[in-house]
Amino acid sequence: MHLLFDKIHETVSYIQSQTTVQPTTGIVLGSGLGGLIDVVDIITEIPYHHIPHFPVSTVEGHAGKLVFGKLGNHPVVLMAGRFHYYEGYSMEEVTFPIRVMKGLGVETVILSNAAGGMNELYQVGDIVIIKDCINLFPEHPLRGKNDERLGVRFLDMSEPFDRQLIEKAQQIATQQSLKVHTGVYVGLQGPTFETRAEYKWLYIIGGDVVGMSTVPEVIVARHGGMKVFAASIVTDLGIRDELNTISHEEVLEAANKAAPKLAALVAALVTTS
Ligand code: HPA
Repeated sequence: MHLLFDKIHETVSYIQSQTTVQPTTGIVLGSGLGGLIDVVDIITEIPYHHIPHFPVSTVEGHAGKLVFGKLGNHPVVLMAGRFHYYEGYSMEEVTFPIRVMKGLGVETVILSNAAGGMNELYQVGDIVIIKDCINLFPEHPLRGKNDERLGVRFLDMSEPFDRQLIEKAQQIATQQSLKVHTGVYVGLQGPTFETRAEYKWLYIIGGDVVGMSTVPEVIVARHGGMKVFAASIVTDLGIRDELNTISHEEVLEAANKAAPKLAALVAALVTTS
């Protein structure tokens, strides 16, 4: 059997044969946030289907390539198009690119997503810096035999999101006159949006926003000892009124509208580190 460890290193070797960039920051571009690519000086692009062991993304609005370049002076890798559990990928596949980032030398992972808002203070288009998360996925990415070369068996998750990065992002937001919230992200599998009763429940258990990604990637990034920063764009308000229907189109539209603000925040966060 092909061990995960060996697969990661085959993939890393292939990527290193294709680019000279040695990224220290890895950025996962969630729904509608592909625009960050526009502020990166691109050096190499590798479509997922060229990369050994990489899954290929299927969702509309999610291109599929790794982009290597410079954000300011910082060598970065961008994941344009991510893998969602609801698409049918295994947890190992969903989080494989994060393992590869670690293998490439990445020290900080930045994740973005579109999310439904439960917190009553949030509006559509708001940005939420994620300070903690609740894992409601039905499968755990670290389930199974643990390979100590990749990380510890029992991982501490008392502070999954790097406090210094959160504080810095808050300061940058103030400088940019950008309103940001700081909240708790609940991750569940989808692909249905939540019922009204579920949104209410998610709020009661401590969630501020909800989405179908991010949590598995955060867990694996922490397993690999990388620092994590994550932010959501609020694309709909789950618990607000009787007739709050949601469509994927509305989610993408709201995410696209707010994306430049989040891109500017992330760009400043990376370039001033
Ligand atoms: N729920 C889950 N995922 C989402 C939502 C939501 O309301 N909005 C955008 N992604």
